Amino acid sequence: MQQIDIAIVGYGTVGNAVAKILEEEKQLLTQKAGYKINLKKVYTRNWNKHFKYPLKENQKAKSLEEILNDQDIKIVVELTGGIDFPLELFKKCILKKKHIVTANKALLAEKGKEIFQLAEQNNIRIGFEAAVAGGIPIIRALREGLVANKIKNIYGILNGTTNFILTKMYTEKKAFNEVLKEAQEKGYAEADPTLDINGIDAAHKIAILASLAFGGFLDFSNVYTEGINGIEKLDIELGKELGYTLKLLAIAKSHNDEVEVRVHPTFLPQSNPLSSVNGVFNAVLIEGNHVGETMFYGKGAGGEPTASAVISDIVDIGKSIVLNTGRNIEITSMNWKHKDLSLKKVEDFYTRYYIRFTVPDVIGILSKIATVFAKYEISIAAVIQKEKVIELYDKSIEKTVPLVILTHTASENNIQKAIKDIENQKLTKSKTIIIRVEDPE
Ligand code: HSE
Repeated sequence: MQQIDIAIVGYGTVGNAVAKILEEEKQLLTQKAGYKINLKKVYTRNWNKHFKYPLKENQKAKSLEEILNDQDIKIVVELTGGIDFPLELFKKCILKKKHIVTANKALLAEKGKEIFQLAEQNNIRIGFEAAVAGGIPIIRALREGLVANKIKNIYGILNGTTNFILTKMYTEKKAFNEVLKEAQEKGYAEADPTLDINGIDAAHKIAILASLAFGGFLDFSNVYTEGINGIEKLDIELGKELGYTLKLLAIAKSHNDEVEVRVHPTFLPQSNPLSSVNGVFNAVLIEGNHVGETMFYGKGAGGEPTASAVISDIVDIGKSIVLNTGRNIEITSMNWKHKDLSLKKVEDFYTRYYIRFTVPDVIGILSKIATVFAKYEISIAAVIQKEKVIELYDKSIEKTVPLVILTHTASENNIQKAIKDIENQKLTKSKTIIIRVEDPE
């Protein structure tokens, strides 16, 4: 039986899980793949660390060159993270004619165009199922399962760490930092958790999905991204009163000649299926023109779920080597890497808004604010004003009350102008909180 030799570069949580599953499921994988997968070498910068899954001595590579120069190694699994080092590694692998499997969403979202073009020129395959939504086979779903559809919208909970934090804050009333620590201990958070918290990790993932769904590359630096730092428990509670759950939502929408891609905390109706996606789980809701809505759910972070996706790519690429199917069909057939997508600007977004003002409890404030809203053609859908200062409210802001306005669909541009106007008139006593709402009218 034929054998495919592979190597792993980067031996952290996911790398350990890949090695463990390849060993534990050896028989099953051989049966399913029709050939043997041999983990020939692993490279990490520090072999002195404690590993959850120890390797045999002859599997430990002393240098990267040991892997790059080994002609038997056909697939390199890149699990290092970051951008600069893996970009160089990708280039070297491609030139050495080694196929690549990666979980590196940052690299693909920011340097995808360069990498895929180079890979195509050299007839090299890049598997990246693990880069988005961990164990959920969403890349294959978009590329193959939904191929008959024009994709209209994608809504994703794509970051396990922030979903874990928001869920715990909501259900257990725990503080943000306490829950973040728990997420890091469980291996969900990135080495640098600011990428999770500030929404960049989810933005990397939705950028990749948008590229696949809409057929082109986009300028990642222009993807509108807001994280969950600064989210207050008070807004989670007030949103609940309006029938909403707060999620860090990644959104990609196709318009005629533009795409809208954004990540931000979002209120979703409690009846929306994404509202019940809790903890470290991820989910992706995709709307295609023929299939309608489909939803994919599963573990989006953690060693074994991500390793499950990594191994699916290894098996797939290995199969094309064994069967000698030649060119890389997922790149060549879609032709998406030659096109650039035009991104809608944030000021042109249209959505609904939850806006919390901190106002003095005096006659006429509500009417003054409503007048400004009317001036900018913003229609109000609901208002909550708390007569008594509620438990979660910042009592240091004396003689004020939270005033929440829920709008109908409005333009971002007009919302920003209205808030500025209200703040210039000194109608508010503290920072205005704006949370976008995805709730069809
Ligand atoms: N830090 C990521 C998350 C891991 O929390 O979802 C997978 O990309």
